[in-house]
Amino acid sequence: MPEISVKLGKRAYPVVIGSGMEHRLVPRIRKLIGRNRLFVIYDAQVYALYGQRLGKLLKQVARPVNLVIPAGEKSKTPAQLGRIYDFLLSEKITRSDLILACGGGVVSDLVGYAAATVLRGVPWAVISTTLLGMVDASIGGKTAINHARGKNLVGAFWQPRLVWCDTQYLATLPSRELIGGMGELLKYTGLIGQSVLTKLRAFIDGGDLLDMSRLQPLIVSSVRYKANLVAADETDHSRRRVLNLGHTFGHAIEVGAGYGRLLHGEALVAGLKAACHMSGTTLARKRALQPYCCLIESFMPLIPRPRIDLHRAFEALFVDKKRTGERPKFILLEKLGQPIIVTNVKTDEVRKSLMFALSDFELTGELND
Ligand SMILES: NC(=O)c1ccc[n+]([C@@H]2O[C@H](COP(=O)([O-])OP(=O)(O)OC[C@H]3O[C@@H](n4cnc5c(N)ncnc54)[C@H](O)[C@@H]3O)[C@@H](O)[C@H]2O)c1
Ligand SMILES: [Zn+2]
Repeated sequence: MPEISVKLGKRAYPVVIGSGMEHRLVPRIRKLIGRNRLFVIYDAQVYALYGQRLGKLLKQVARPVNLVIPAGEKSKTPAQLGRIYDFLLSEKITRSDLILACGGGVVSDLVGYAAATVLRGVPWAVISTTLLGMVDASIGGKTAINHARGKNLVGAFWQPRLVWCDTQYLATLPSRELIGGMGELLKYTGLIGQSVLTKLRAFIDGGDLLDMSRLQPLIVSSVRYKANLVAADETDHSRRRVLNLGHTFGHAIEVGAGYGRLLHGEALVAGLKAACHMSGTTLARKRALQPYCCLIESFMPLIPRPRIDLHRAFEALFVDKKRTGERPKFILLEKLGQPIIVTNVKTDEVRKSLMFALSDFELTGELND
C-alpha cells in the first residue's frame, strides 16, 4: 500500500494509494480524531454508491454526522458553501473535530474551503473517488468555490491531514470521467519523463482502463511528482506552475467548446497536443518529443468532438489576458521530463499549435488577434 508524504514540516500529511483498503481507513481516522467528532460530507453520487458502506465503517470510529452535496461543478457555489456552514455550525463543530470530504475534485475543493474558513480553520481529510481527484485535486491544499466571473476565484490554501485514494471506487466512475482523469496522467507523463511514458503506453495498449495493476503505479508516480512540487512551492509562485502543462491551451479549448461540453481532462488532452506541437520548435526537440506526441495522439479518439468557436478560444488565450495586462504563460517541454515556463511566445505560433490540435474538430468563428 504505497504512501506518499507531502512534506510540509508540521503540516506534512500522507496520500495513501491502494485498492480495496477500506478496513484500513478506520485506524487512520481514529488516529486523526482521537475523542473528537467526525463530520462527513459526501458527493451525492458517491453517497448513493458507497454511503452505507462507508457510514458503517466510520461508525466504528465515531458517530459521524453526514451531509450530502449535489453532484457536479454547479455545487461549487456560495449557496452550497452556506449549506455546509449551516450544517457544521448547527451541529456545533469545534476546531478539534475533523471534516471528511468523500468525492471528486468538486467536493474536495468545496469542503476544503469550508474547512479552511469555518471557525478560521478546522482539520479536514479527503476520501478521493475520482481519478482526477486522486492524481490532482485532492493533493496540495488548493481549495475554492467558483464566482460568476470565473472558476476557483474564491479560495484558500488549507492542507488536508490525510488523502485516501482507494482505486476500487474508480470501477463505478463514468467512462468520460475516467478518461478525463487520464488527461491529467498524460500531463504528468510529459512532466516526469520516459519511465512513466513506457508505463502509460503499456496501460493504453492493454486496452483495459480499469486494470488496477497498471493504473495504480501511474497514480503513484503522479502523486509523488505533485507532492514534491507542493512541498517545494506550496502557494504556487514558481515550480508548482509546471502542473499547468497543456492547461493554457486546454482552458481555451474548453471555452471554445462552450462550458460543460468538454470535461476539463478531455480539453486537456487536446491542450497537451497543442503544447507538444508548440514545444517542437527545433528538429532535435521535435524528435525527442515524438514518442510523447504519439501517445497524446492515441488519446485523441477517446475524446468527444464538439464544435469549437475559434474566436472564443483565442480570446480566452489572449484578449482576456491583455485586459489584465498579463501575457499568457505556456508550459512547454524542452524534452520529455523537462518543462519550461515561457511567456514570450509569438501569436502566430500559438495560432498554429491551436489549429494543429483542433485539426479534426468542426470549427466556427475567426482567428484574429
Ligand atoms: N484543488 C486543486 O488543486 C484542483 C486540481 C484540479 C481540479 N480541481 C477541481 O476539481 C473539480 C473536478 O473534479 P472531478 O473531475 O473529480 O469532478 P467531480 O468531483 O465533479 O466528479 C465527477 C463526477 O463523478 C461522480 N463521481 C465521483 N466519484 C464517483 C465514483 N467513484 N463512482 C461514480 N461516480 C463518481 C460525481 O458525482 C460527478 O458527477 C473541478 O471543480 C476543478 O476545479 C481542483
Ligand atoms: Zn487539470
